[in-house]
Amino acid sequence: MENSVGESSTTAAVTSIYHGLPLLTTRLVSSSNNTNNNNNTQNKMSLVINGDSHTQAHLGQVITHYLASLQPHKQRFLGYPTNEEFNYEALAPLLHLHLNNAGDPFHGSSFTLNSTSFEVSVLDWFANLWDIQKSEYWGYVTTGGTEGNLHGLLLGREQFPDGILYASQDSHYSVFKIARMYRMQCIKVATLISGQIDCHHLKALLLANKHKPAIINLNIGTTMKGAVDDIDLVIKTLDETGFSRDRFYIHCDGALFGIMLPFLKEAASKISFKKAIGSITISGHKFLGCPIPCGVVITRLEHMKALSRDVVEVIASRDATVTGSRSGHAPIFLWYSLQKKGIIGIEKEVERCIMNARYLRDQLGSAGIGAMLNELSCTVVFERPLDDEFVSRWSLACNGNIAHVVVMQHVTLSMLDSFVSEFLQNRVIWFRDGLRKPLCIANDVGAIHCTCPLHNSIKLLDI
Ligand SMILES: Cc1ncc(COP(=O)(O)O)c(C=O)c1O
Repeated sequence: MENSVGESSTTAAVTSIYHGLPLLTTRLVSSSNNTNNNNNTQNKMSLVINGDSHTQAHLGQVITHYLASLQPHKQRFLGYPTNEEFNYEALAPLLHLHLNNAGDPFHGSSFTLNSTSFEVSVLDWFANLWDIQKSEYWGYVTTGGTEGNLHGLLLGREQFPDGILYASQDSHYSVFKIARMYRMQCIKVATLISGQIDCHHLKALLLANKHKPAIINLNIGTTMKGAVDDIDLVIKTLDETGFSRDRFYIHCDGALFGIMLPFLKEAASKISFKKAIGSITISGHKFLGCPIPCGVVITRLEHMKALSRDVVEVIASRDATVTGSRSGHAPIFLWYSLQKKGIIGIEKEVERCIMNARYLRDQLGSAGIGAMLNELSCTVVFERPLDDEFVSRWSLACNGNIAHVVVMQHVTLSMLDSFVSEFLQNRVIWFRDGLRKPLCIANDVGAIHCTCPLHNSIKLLDI
């Protein structure tokens, strides 16, 4: 395939079948200002590296063209939990340096072009957020939530080499990949309709496997439904099943919501190292908004010490991180974002995301489209649109019969209005011949939130 800017790579050939009918691959209704996918071949600029040396002007042109091709996507970027509203122009001079934080941020390194002082400030901020003393924690800035999971679960595995990893079926796919990478026995735990871990099922599994320590991955905001697992209930379940503190390790995967939760008055104490948890991770490019993927992992110092005491001669630092070279820019972006927003700014952004998510849920509901929003969440779940091009146009993420919108800072009410209105117009066309029907999402979000013909008729009977 030709490698060029301006060509969409998001619309894949569709083979999925719904209600016995293939998904639609052509857009049926489009708005007049639609520039989706930017498929005009005349506008493509070749990206092939052919060995020639190109002028700065030419390269600048390619980048300008690429940027322009992204703008329409940005205006409809609804399905992924990344904050696209930020301005880091002040940090541009840093692009003149390669900064590398290889090693332990607290230990120093012989790579002097580093930003570990910024990194430690960021880590201190998160340690304070999650209630752990400076002298008792360790952590580092990662490449993202996945690396945070790799690190947190490794600490659990190192503490309990024969432990069983328990993760709810709604956990991020990285958790199951990590279990395979580390060759850990992994048991999937059922979830409630909200997406929270089902502690009744967990209890039965723990009782059946009492002979082995438990390593538990908990979600502070599941990927698809934004569900927050109940840490207290899980700890109570461990206690009731005879797992004392020295026989379990809990890792909290808080990719998006681990930073948002403490700013919600109703939930401020939910995620905290005052509880018997071992580690927490978040993605830095999600709520905080960072142009490059990054994340933070915080653990108890004692766990890290068990992992590594070695000082590696080449970098003159302690080797306790998953990767070797680590971005020196990422901690500065995180530091800048935290400093610019301040506590009040973060609080306001969290509140706005939640309020706007409620708005979307209500708009979908009023339009007769089944939708669910967990109480402390900005992830609105609804029936999967039947047209894959519509899905791609709004950058939606889908799983089975459901799709979701994650209402982040850049998502405005007018974007949401356009989305609902276009969804409605398309639905009329998808369903007009009567061959296709709204998908049933009762198993995913509960019958009450489902507007498929069956559950709609049951609701009518109830009235
Ligand atoms: C719950 C959860 N965990 C982990 C991840 C992975 O994070 P990253 O993409 O930063 O590696 C995600 C990504 O969406 C997520 O939703």
